[in-house]
Amino acid sequence: MQSSATPTHPLARLTADEIDAARQIITAGGLVTDSTRFAYLGLAEPSKDEVLAYTPGAPIDRRVRAVLIDIATGASHIVIASLTKGTVEQVEALDTRTQGQPAIMDDDLITVDEIVKADPGWVEAMAKRGLTDLDQIRPCPLSPGNFGFPGEEGRRLLRVLSFVQHRPDDHPWAHPVDGVVAYVDLIERKVVKLIDHRVLPVPKREHNHDDPAYTGPARTTLKPLDIIQPEGPSFTVDGDEITWDHWRLRIGFDAREGLVLYQIRYLDNGRERPIIYRASVGEMVVPYGDPSPTRFWQSYFDIGEYLIGQQVNSLELGCDCLGEIYYFDAVLPTTKGEPRVVKNAICLHEEDFGVLWKHTDIFTGSSQVRRQRRLVVSYFATIGNYDYGFYWYFYLDGTIQLEVKATGVIFTAPHIPGNPYASQITDEIAGPFHQHLYNVRLDMMVDGLTNAVEEIDAVRVRTGPGNEYGNAFTRSVTRLRRESEAVRDAHPGASRVWKIINPQSLNAIGQPVGYALIPQGGPLLLADEGASVRRRGAFATHHLWVTRYHPDERYPAGEFINANPGGAGLPAYVAQDRSIDGEDIVVWHTFGITHFPRPEDWPVMPVDCCGFTLKPIGFFDRNPALDLPAVTSSHCHPGGGHGAHDHSGHEHGGHEHSGHEHGGHAHGEGSPVQP
Ligand code: NI
Repeated sequence: MQSSATPTHPLARLTADEIDAARQIITAGGLVTDSTRFAYLGLAEPSKDEVLAYTPGAPIDRRVRAVLIDIATGASHIVIASLTKGTVEQVEALDTRTQGQPAIMDDDLITVDEIVKADPGWVEAMAKRGLTDLDQIRPCPLSPGNFGFPGEEGRRLLRVLSFVQHRPDDHPWAHPVDGVVAYVDLIERKVVKLIDHRVLPVPKREHNHDDPAYTGPARTTLKPLDIIQPEGPSFTVDGDEITWDHWRLRIGFDAREGLVLYQIRYLDNGRERPIIYRASVGEMVVPYGDPSPTRFWQSYFDIGEYLIGQQVNSLELGCDCLGEIYYFDAVLPTTKGEPRVVKNAICLHEEDFGVLWKHTDIFTGSSQVRRQRRLVVSYFATIGNYDYGFYWYFYLDGTIQLEVKATGVIFTAPHIPGNPYASQITDEIAGPFHQHLYNVRLDMMVDGLTNAVEEIDAVRVRTGPGNEYGNAFTRSVTRLRRESEAVRDAHPGASRVWKIINPQSLNAIGQPVGYALIPQGGPLLLADEGASVRRRGAFATHHLWVTRYHPDERYPAGEFINANPGGAGLPAYVAQDRSIDGEDIVVWHTFGITHFPRPEDWPVMPVDCCGFTLKPIGFFDRNPALDLPAVTSSHCHPGGGHGAHDHSGHEHGGHEHSGHEHGGHAHGEGSPVQP
């Protein structure tokens, strides 16, 4: 029962044939019954040394990792199967009392609906709130957390808050039902606890962002803005491998982690230099700050609990990205272990990004400018009310960035005057305070496997001998030598960065080459010491963690964060206190936003961004973008002479403006043109 597909790289994404073969192998191994669901199925990645030793054409042992759950008994297993050998290699039972539960599955949305609507107590609680048409109620399958409550140990639970949907095209988030929550056991298929704390009015007014009767007529002030690349994009794609300018990288897509980038390299004067072996957003948590008896437990780990990759959107050309777009489809498993294809899941395109460098010289008269450009690899996923975009950027000057965009609809509650834990959004609706905290796992490989991390702060120098006038300032450089020393927080007031260096690779002036992680330094997890979410989401209590590479250490909050009691993931990894000085290391960085919802976030939220930057510091010997061609007038004035829609004259590169009409204002020579 071997797979017919012939992968061309050990990290090649699983094909539909391979997912089919995996299901057949696992089924032939006697592990699948009618009540078995595949809570996860993905590539079991070969270890780093195997991948780095791979030469094209060499045989590849393709393996998959699956998490199976029997929805009749709750029994859960982790399975490793070899596609190459056609055999199940490993089966391990999951102890759900101590290790946590498999992720919540798409099917659970339907299961929860059936369970609560069959429960007389829940139906009565809804009736108390004037809700008698059960078809209009939308119960949400919300992850339970772990509070050590008696009777919950080892149970596959969800906590259920509900919304009301007046009609099929009415968005339910405007009608939150509060003051009542059902705790549901998915295996016993029953409500095990109903907390009916307080009857609050259900907000009635409709706020449908896709209804012109609500939004008003579309504005007519904007002319078309097209991005044209007459010779096509500058990137090429070969399977999962992307080549753009001097950048080389490989994409992966996992049902849990979503987009994964592998083997990010930069071609420097003919030498392919590795920077990152593997980059992924390994976990995120959305903890809410409302302590009410029906909401205190709200903390969603959207990656480990809801498998963000499974929720990937299919993108439409011209809507999510502009320009010459290349789309990759995603191939994902269903809960029956069958392949499903999400068309246009990953977007690849390049963007102009304004000025890269520029100088007008007062002595030589030289005036030079070069434009910045970036390659964008991105995807969007929808988890219930929220939509998250993950955008990796690669720039011509060697900079790498990740930007996470949060949009969609805030999780609402009825407005209660005087509530200090939510902001009022409309006359009826409030937005409970919450955070969106992400942890990115950066398996670093700056010019090779021997890396180390320095913490660099800007520091003042005391007035005294050698600094008589007090103007001096400098920087402190601290090498982080062990895992215990490398649990660190940002310090925006000191411009703190963490520089990943390779002590064995020196630049032209004899310094170790390096890339600095520049954090944004926003608030970390605000829940108090002792809060359950601090143990479970410990990754979010510090901005930086550094570990020695181990192939099994993949998840910031552990593999089974659903109902996990805490302590898994990073706290357990760093407890080994290994040396990270001149070793093969992984850098883990927490960033995010603390969200006090605004009226403007309603009824659909403008994108709120956060992320981080990786910038070369001494990785190159000089500005790596010196050889960019100058901006020529033909680039500034593409295809001139198209009448009213001629966009020439919009360029801001120090060239003359051509004086076209823009909305009635003629821009004469030298008049300012605002972007
Ligand atoms: Ni938010």
